[in-house]
Amino acid sequence: MQDTLGRPLRDLRISVTDRCNMRCTYCMPKEIFGPEYAFLPQSELLSFDEIERVARIFAALGVCKLRITGGEPLVRKGLPELIQRLSQVPGIEDIALTTNGLLLPQLAQPLREAGLKRVTISLDALDDETFGRMNGLNIKVERVLKGVQAAEEAGFELVKINSVIKKSQNLHAVMDLAEHFRGTRHTLRFIEFMDVGNHNQWDMKDVIPSRDILSMIHARHPLEPVNPNYKGEVAKRYRYLDGQGEIGFISSVTDAFCGTCTRARISSDGQIYTCLFGTLGYDLKTPLRAGETDQELSGRITRLWSLRTDRYSEERAIKPRENKIEMSRIGG
Ligand code: GTP
Ligand code: 5AD
Ligand code: SF4
Ligand code: SF4
Repeated sequence: MQDTLGRPLRDLRISVTDRCNMRCTYCMPKEIFGPEYAFLPQSELLSFDEIERVARIFAALGVCKLRITGGEPLVRKGLPELIQRLSQVPGIEDIALTTNGLLLPQLAQPLREAGLKRVTISLDALDDETFGRMNGLNIKVERVLKGVQAAEEAGFELVKINSVIKKSQNLHAVMDLAEHFRGTRHTLRFIEFMDVGNHNQWDMKDVIPSRDILSMIHARHPLEPVNPNYKGEVAKRYRYLDGQGEIGFISSVTDAFCGTCTRARISSDGQIYTCLFGTLGYDLKTPLRAGETDQELSGRITRLWSLRTDRYSEERAIKPRENKIEMSRIGG
């Protein structure tokens, strides 16, 4: 099954909640996502039965990799049970999770035992002042580092660390982060600040191109490119020439990777998005709850994918969009 640009469907990113225990300025600015914000009620969320069914249908269509996202996925109650069920789905080879790490001390072990293969943890600075400002709630760096440690102790050998760099906020954190994770088994990945959603005040002037970060680090610790782990890997990889590990760059703004995009996303309320920058979701929940068969639901997904034309990151300069889905609904 291929879309109009010849791209197969290989990955499904499943958002399990639109809530989060942080308020990062580039994702859920607290001025918008405050006490009055209408989060989804529990009844609107897909149940674990429904998520498992959707995953089975996607797997039968060629998806082999699942990534659990949010909001913050670990605030969804009972997540290890969901992972355990998803890990039994035929055809699924990889299950990963993107988290802010705060709840990993309690959950890393049960998640690992349930069959979770990989964990990616977000961390944007190593000084409390910058990180506290960026996460919106003055949450301390130490709490995330405890999450990284908990992941290690639970047996996740190689943890990826995601850092979003904004020129106005945390450019100085680049070298701190690089030095900190150099020589560990963890791979630090720098993400260009993206225009996801409608509320993060995105401005091209606040984007630091990956090549600038690469030059900064390379000047101190020489790097060389490494081949991708798999075709269409989002991050471009580099390794330190002195053997102290690797780093990655996710450059959706300056070096778009739509040509190899094999990802579908499903929001916690059961809407499918064929692009991170989508405006309208495709409602799978209504037919799911109306009792359609697997075959009927599968037919809907096949039709949706075969009509897919998305390549927003390649087009944003000429075709900017309004009313994009929020990051907290679609999980990145
Ligand atoms: P692995 O390669 O499986 O380790 O995961 P990943 O890098 O795809 O997942 P992760 O959730 O860590 O995403 C890292 C960053 O890349 C996040 O900021 C995502 O929003 C961004 N990203 C992931 N997929 C896409 C995509 O299809 N398009 C764009 N523009 N950004 C993406
Ligand atoms: N630009 C770039 N990355 C973002 N993330 C969230 N919002 C943005 C944005 N506007 C990152 C998070 C997390 C990942 C899923 O997406 O930091 O690591
Ligand atoms: Fe929460 Fe992650 Fe968004 Fe930050 S980036 S507000 S941790 S969902
Ligand atoms: Fe895929 Fe859309 Fe990202 Fe391009 S912008 S890589 S089409 S999700």
